[in-house]
Amino acid sequence: MVKAGIWGVGIGVPDRVLTNKDLEQMVDTSDEWITSRTGIRERRIADPAQATSDLALLAARKAMEDARVDASEIDLIIVATVTPDSMFPATACLVQAGIGAAQAAAFDLSAGCSGFIYALEIAARCVEAGAYRRVLVVGADTLSRITNWTDRSTCVLFGDGAGACVVGPVKQGGVLSMYLGADGTGGDKLHIPAGGSRLPLTAEAMQEGKQYIHMAGNEVFKFAVRIMGDAAVEVIRRAGLQSEDIELFVPHQANIRIIDAAAKRLGLTPEKVFVNVQKYGNTSAASIPLALAEALEQDKIRPGDHVVLVGFGAGLTWGAAALQWNAEEDQLR
Ligand code: COA
Repeated sequence: MVKAGIWGVGIGVPDRVLTNKDLEQMVDTSDEWITSRTGIRERRIADPAQATSDLALLAARKAMEDARVDASEIDLIIVATVTPDSMFPATACLVQAGIGAAQAAAFDLSAGCSGFIYALEIAARCVEAGAYRRVLVVGADTLSRITNWTDRSTCVLFGDGAGACVVGPVKQGGVLSMYLGADGTGGDKLHIPAGGSRLPLTAEAMQEGKQYIHMAGNEVFKFAVRIMGDAAVEVIRRAGLQSEDIELFVPHQANIRIIDAAAKRLGLTPEKVFVNVQKYGNTSAASIPLALAEALEQDKIRPGDHVVLVGFGAGLTWGAAALQWNAEEDQLR
């Protein structure tokens, strides 16, 4: 069976930076509180004219360039997002039109901050099965649009961004193992109450702020600490590896304390853990590909390295991937 690997990556983030100091002017918070409880120092915020597909397109174009793949070669596009441009059409279709990938099927995937890992699993399995040969996977969110900017317990956490990769067949290595999971009984711990078929958006619902993210922060925190470690341990076991074989751990960037707890459980030293939460906050489905692309840019991943990606999020969901990074010669063009 052919294997699937990542051929190229790219990111797209808005220019506007919102710092903790800026937030001090908006809600009753402090730079000290945000930094010590979350590790976040600043985040990017989309321009009013920018929607999720615009950030997704920036990332997609860079990933295609990095992978040396033309739009005409892309045969499937998956966009993981909880902030589509609109309920429909799918943001993936807007990306398809934007890059001009006329041969590609396109759909969105909703798995919160685990969305990129979910999409990566589908892409990898499609490539392995020979059903598709060049899959564009994008994680993109503009959480600033669903954030209540008067709620200090959530507004300090989130930011906007997109990350993308092209998945294609490889001779060896690539995606070694994956592990996805969900616990729908925890759905109400992190959700948007209104704007769907259960509670359509009305003036009354909006007055109560039900169009925004609602989160039981402490419960999500406990879930995240447990599941990040469990998912990483399981995906490493499925790959037939030990944690000491891992050269780089690229976790979902939600909170430095959650990342540190997972790293401790795996016995990883700080240089084996990639962190950029201080620059972007929690960018939801974009978080892992954004971190992966920056880790590559900083030469923290070399061909042959074992890399573990782990995410958790709304659903509740979680997902992990163990990869062996490919050399360009491994790509089956
Ligand atoms: N600035 C100042 N104080 C704040 C604050 C802010 N931005 N947000 C909350 N507080 C206050 C609370 O009101 C509370 O005050 P009280 O004790 O007087 O009631 C106090 O800080 C402690 O709140 P608590 O919720 O216990 O803090 P915490 O240590 O659990 O940290 C989170 C809060 C949100 C940072 C943490 O729970 C978390 O990261 N949860 C997971 C969130 C997440 O990752 N979500 C996305 C999943 S994809």
